[in-house]
Amino acid sequence: MPRIWEKIVITFDQERPHDYAEIEHLLTCAFGAERFQKASYALRKEGTNYSQYACVARAEGLVLATVRFTKIHVKDLLFGGNCNALLLGPLAVAPSMQGAGLGTSLVEYALAGVEAAGHKRILLVGDKNYYGRFGFEPIMPRYITLPGGRDADRLLVKQPSDMPQLPMFGRLQPLWANFDDHYMLPEGAIGSTA
Ligand SMILES: CC(C)(COP(=O)(O)OP(=O)(O)OC[C@H]1O[C@@H](n2cnc3c(N)ncnc32)[C@H](O)[C@@H]1OP(=O)(O)O)[C@@H](O)C(=O)NCCC(=O)NCCS
Repeated sequence: MPRIWEKIVITFDQERPHDYAEIEHLLTCAFGAERFQKASYALRKEGTNYSQYACVARAEGLVLATVRFTKIHVKDLLFGGNCNALLLGPLAVAPSMQGAGLGTSLVEYALAGVEAAGHKRILLVGDKNYYGRFGFEPIMPRYITLPGGRDADRLLVKQPSDMPQLPMFGRLQPLWANFDDHYMLPEGAIGSTA
């Protein structure tokens, strides 16, 4: 799906394995090398963050923006059981292209893809002022924590109103096996929850 941004033709499509290094560079520019210490990264195991839902915006062979998704569980800590969700993120736009609508267009494109594939419950850790435009709402008054027990005060959800609601008291869990409920963040981890 090409779009023209002041004479640059930008294409939105699926992330490819050969995009990996370029995307990691873009993410380091956007979030810094310390991004791996964020609690949400504990839900994304190294090597598993490429999925069929990850999308990029590119122009002339360069990746200008990236958004990825991770399949997760929300564990109900009161009644037991898990519900499925996709965690959106990280999302980043190349610094020189920020503020021009690219992030909005990429998220809209990516959400259309995941929703068409049947994923109706999307979560993310981010700013309501930005993600509200896509229909994301704070999970409050629910209390759902991130790995390591981190408070997820910036956790947002987008799901149809007729879908079962998130648990009142829960925890985000990765899908990969043997995740320890008492998982601790690495020593010296920074305080951010995003
Ligand atoms: C955040 C980001 C993805 C937005 O993409 P973008 O292409 O720059 O943004 P868009 O042009 O689509 O949208 C611009 C709007 O978003 C707002 N916005 C941009 N970054 C924002 C942020 N971090 N928080 C809240 N609002 C933000 C702008 O104020 C602007 O608002 P307006 O439409 O009311 O004028 C991009 O700026 C970026 O990569 N930032 C660094 C990494 C980051 O913070 N990622 C998000 C983590 S939750």
